[in-house]
Amino acid sequence: MHVNARASPGPILTAVALPSGAVMSVRALDVIRDEHRALAGMLASLRTLVRDWSRHGTAPDLGVLRAMVFYIHAYPERLHHPKETGLLFAAMRARGVAIGDLLDRLDAEHAHGDEAVMRLAMGLLEVEQLGATRLAAFADSVERYVDAYLRHMELEEREVLPLAERVLAEDDWKRIDTAFAGNRDPLTGHPPEETFRALFTRIVSAAPAPVGLGPPLRQSGAT
Ligand SMILES: [Fe+2]
Ligand SMILES: [Fe+2]
Repeated sequence: MHVNARASPGPILTAVALPSGAVMSVRALDVIRDEHRALAGMLASLRTLVRDWSRHGTAPDLGVLRAMVFYIHAYPERLHHPKETGLLFAAMRARGVAIGDLLDRLDAEHAHGDEAVMRLAMGLLEVEQLGATRLAAFADSVERYVDAYLRHMELEEREVLPLAERVLAEDDWKRIDTAFAGNRDPLTGHPPEETFRALFTRIVSAAPAPVGLGPPLRQSGAT
């Protein structure tokens, strides 16, 4: 399986930009897999922080936790999912693939993604504002959120991407590859837009592995 947060080599933010003017051909499927690995790493770090908080009662740097939740809202939800639904899945439907039901399910998950991450953000606010009695519910929602997201990406990698590779034509790929080449996720090694630079620096310098360089916690996130 490609989406295995525990197997991710961390920290993730290591590669850098090409020399200016250099042109690199980009395969949408590689971008999707890279973004899945980055997101799986982020989810693993988020889960580790919240488990540690829940088990030992010491709050982590909540600014970093908020930055991680905001990253999910700002990148995968804004950029990754819309391109899958609007381009890749749409092209596969146009080619008459027999996994329409699965694509419907994944599209529905994309459509609810923003709502799910907002619930997570509100759950974190509840713990901050109302205190430790809300921590168990928040920790539980993080577990369910991370599990569901990993399942979503695993389905895409196991059922959708290999089929796309078989059924889509060169014209499809030209269009899809071009779209996926833009707005790359900084956690896959591409420089962030200016506005997002501080956010990614904060995450990478303080979050635990595999996503960042922060200190290891008392348990690694294993179940
Ligand atoms: Fe997706
Ligand atoms: Fe995806």
